[in-house]
Amino acid sequence: MNDTQIITAAEKFAKEQLGRDTTGHDWFHTDRVRNTAALIAEMEQADVFICTIAALLHDVADEKLNPSKEAGLHKVHSWLAGHLSDEGQIGHIMQIIETMSFSGGGGKPMATLEGQVVQDADRLDALGAIGITRVMVFSGAKGRPVYDPEIAPRDESLQKEYRDYSKGTAVNHFYEKLLKLKDLMNTSYGRKLAEERHAFMESFLEQFYKEWNQGSRKLL
Ligand code: ADP
Ligand code: NI
Repeated sequence: MNDTQIITAAEKFAKEQLGRDTTGHDWFHTDRVRNTAALIAEMEQADVFICTIAALLHDVADEKLNPSKEAGLHKVHSWLAGHLSDEGQIGHIMQIIETMSFSGGGGKPMATLEGQVVQDADRLDALGAIGITRVMVFSGAKGRPVYDPEIAPRDESLQKEYRDYSKGTAVNHFYEKLLKLKDLMNTSYGRKLAEERHAFMESFLEQFYKEWNQGSRKLL
């Protein structure tokens, strides 16, 4: 198989695996991460093929779609072993996906430029208008309310346990994670793309509070 055929097969595999997930890991998220990763890879002179395959498969191993993290990683490894012959490439892609899947719990930094590129592309999809949409949809799916004026948006104690969806709100997640991502970008082109999306989230929050306050003022 040549590189194009392997990419086509990876697209098909990712589509089958992700299906119509509505918690933020649907096929269109993967497709955006794949295209953004290729764009950053070109700008940063990274290996576009490695970035494309790693991006296409980055959510297939996700815990939410598998019995365990290990089972998910095993599934990705089996697919790679069946489609690539270069052990170095297989190891490189697995390392990227493993590092990404452990990122929730204070994961290790990315060891290679290609890993940094794919991680940046994934983070970019959590920012801007798409990022705002995803945080709201995800919160709805997990039972996290949109906002509660009784809960401080920047509550420090909630930031430590933000994976406990029974606490906090969707608005808390901007301060727990989303507004921090700009400064965590690995590549300079990724950071440049993050800046516009970050600014858009800041103005979204400003307008959100303004409308919330207008709607909370009692005339009678
Ligand atoms: P990814 O797999 O893309 O790195 P996650 O699984 O951490 O991302 O999150 C997927 C989407 O769900 C993101 O857009 C994120 O904003 C949202 N999300 C993740 N955790 C929370 C949370 N605790 N509260 C609200 N939204 C969340
Ligand atoms: Ni992702």
